Amino acid sequence: MKVVAIVGSIRKESYNMQLAHFIQKRYTEKLELEVLSLKDLPMYNQDIENEAPQEVLDFKAKVKAADAVLWVTPEYNGTVPGVMVNAIDWLSRVDKVMIGKPSIIMGASMGNLGTVKAQLHLRDILFSPGINSPLLSGNDVYIGAVHTKFDAEGNLTDEGTVKFLDVVIDNFLNWAKKYI
Ligand code: FNR
Repeated sequence: MKVVAIVGSIRKESYNMQLAHFIQKRYTEKLELEVLSLKDLPMYNQDIENEAPQEVLDFKAKVKAADAVLWVTPEYNGTVPGVMVNAIDWLSRVDKVMIGKPSIIMGASMGNLGTVKAQLHLRDILFSPGINSPLLSGNDVYIGAVHTKFDAEGNLTDEGTVKFLDVVIDNFLNWAKKYI
């Protein structure tokens, strides 16, 4: 299965980006994961949505070609970071490439609640008519205190979290294949 990861942090040392790359490496036998960066995505502007910049067209083409999407979100001020919302706005207009495409949400934060508020908001947003993405439920991945769970090479070292991810990824792949 071909999956793209959309990561809501553009900082160099992002834990959420590390998580996406960890998943890419660990499950390479099971899924083909491309990790997308939102760093060069321009701000959404309705004035230019019909002649969108090349960066937007390239981003949307990658999402369109994927069988499923892994959303990896930090939590900013109790919600989804602006870069993630910006990406969703582009995806929701003109060529609505997310409609019917299955998704899973994960997230990591330094706080104990592991992005629970951001993820609840993101779930709601992904059900909006321009996105309308079926979402895996019952496999919520909230990684709290994330700064204690990765080593300097970007490996997730928390055994319990890794074991849980193993189960969640299997559940996701089994569920998502119904939509392909
Ligand atoms: C945060 N952080 C944060 N953490 C959290 O658990 N709940 C929150 O509401 C917020 N709010 C927040 C706002 C802003 C503007 C920043 C910069 C940070 C801390 C956040 O969890 C931490 O910076 C993570 O490391 C961000 O994810 P990445 O960039 O490491 O992927």
